[in-house]
Amino acid sequence: MNEAQVAALREECLTCERGCDAAVEMALQSRNAAIQVKLATEGAKPADCTCDDSAASASATADAPAVIKPKISHYRRHLLLCVGPRCTQDGQSQELYDSLGARFKAAGLQEGDLRVKRSRVSCFAACKGGPIVCVQPDGVWYYNVTSANMDRIIDEHLVHGRVVQELVFHQGPDGICDDDAP
Ligand code: FES
Repeated sequence: MNEAQVAALREECLTCERGCDAAVEMALQSRNAAIQVKLATEGAKPADCTCDDSAASASATADAPAVIKPKISHYRRHLLLCVGPRCTQDGQSQELYDSLGARFKAAGLQEGDLRVKRSRVSCFAACKGGPIVCVQPDGVWYYNVTSANMDRIIDEHLVHGRVVQELVFHQGPDGICDDDAP
């Protein structure tokens, strides 16, 4: 509502003796109600609306937190190692995890076609006979992964594609090591 329209309402108000503020208030309420109806029925703002929608939406966009799409480099297998407190004690699994970078590098698993991605988990709900390791997508679950056994898993399974059967306690759901497939 512009100044001329407000002034006209005040004139009207003096004429009818209702009080100018009440007249202006009533007119504004009536106008706002009409705008709400128009927005609801037409989905558009009135022609005389001076709101800066572009500024409002730009401000809303600027306020929204940016979500960054993550990236992961190509890998052949994913080794997951439990560092939870129940399947091993005294940080044994964490020590093993910390050694994986150097072991993978020495075995040529840090990059290239055989690259192995490694991750820690806090519990697989196995909780016995650790360290527990799962190798995906082969679906192979190893127990008692001591330092020496990890070397075997790296050499036999991750490099040469042969599952170390004597260390396996579970395989599934469709645990097929591609390299063993006929
Ligand atoms: S704490 Fe390691 S499997 Fe549960």
